[in-house]
Amino acid sequence: MRRLRTTRSIRDLVRENEVGPANLIAPYFIVPGAGKREPIASMPGIDRLSVDLMAQEAAQLQELGLAGVLLFGLPEEKDEIGSSAWDPDGPVQLAVQAIKAAAPELTVVTDVCMCEYTTHGHCGVIGPRGDVDNDETLDLLSRTAISHAAAGADAVAPSDMMDGRVGVLRAALDEEDFTDTAIIAYSAKFASAFYGPFRDAADSAPQPDGHIKEDRRGYQMDPANAREAVREAVLDVEEGADIVMVKPGLPYLDIVRQVRDAVPTPVAVYNVSGEYSMLKAAAASGYLDERSAVAESLLAMRRAGADIIFTYHAKDFASWNQ
Ligand code: PBG
Repeated sequence: MRRLRTTRSIRDLVRENEVGPANLIAPYFIVPGAGKREPIASMPGIDRLSVDLMAQEAAQLQELGLAGVLLFGLPEEKDEIGSSAWDPDGPVQLAVQAIKAAAPELTVVTDVCMCEYTTHGHCGVIGPRGDVDNDETLDLLSRTAISHAAAGADAVAPSDMMDGRVGVLRAALDEEDFTDTAIIAYSAKFASAFYGPFRDAADSAPQPDGHIKEDRRGYQMDPANAREAVREAVLDVEEGADIVMVKPGLPYLDIVRQVRDAVPTPVAVYNVSGEYSMLKAAAASGYLDERSAVAESLLAMRRAGADIIFTYHAKDFASWNQ
């Protein structure tokens, strides 16, 4: 086997998978106001940005050849149902417009979920049992997705894990003539400990009060299940998802492969906050080399079958490869 490993050019010739900036989407957290750049303690190197700074950042990302951005918003105010999620002047809606003006080639994806906007931190409306009410939540998600499409988002990415939301969002978008707005479904989203730093960044951790459930296990998937993940992805494709996503990434590459083999749509993977912070912490301690560990991780996600990778390493990775 070593004959085909002898020189760099032979290795290049027989390489089966590649990863480049065109495969990557960079997540961002948008805050209200102007001139704001707030470092996130648990995610070294990642800052919350106001709309104006996000627009400047977007121009750089376009220059680096990245495929796009995924936007999360931190609203001025939260309430029980998360009504600021569909505010046409909310941070996400304004950022979409500003990015489209500053970097027209970037694909702009918005995260559609209620958890950053609700006082209790759950991904929808709380029903009488203290859990999220599925069907009541669908209407709020539709309003939010429509507001993102109206701002000019190329794709909306529902991350709430309510049943039936892809079909409902597709119908709602079409009804408002947003037939070109794609849906990237977080199809197999697991109830994962690896979202820890994100909840800090987005101020979206569930706030139990004795009645309200303390975690998201009533809607996000059990990490033990793989067949169920395939079922979720197949259902979302049937409901009209253009792209399906598996999340988290590295601990779930078996799921990426199984979903890849089960559906005909492109498959995305989300290399989540905890995976990012783990690697950054190890690199900061000198335990491993950041650049090669990032490159290897992203390549592994492509090898598992992901066409698209959502990753906080995107900008760094693209700049290292300039
Ligand atoms: C919102 C949402 C979460 C993430 C993406 N969308 C958090 C959660 O479900 O608690 C996690 C992203 C990350 O950890 O990087 N529902």
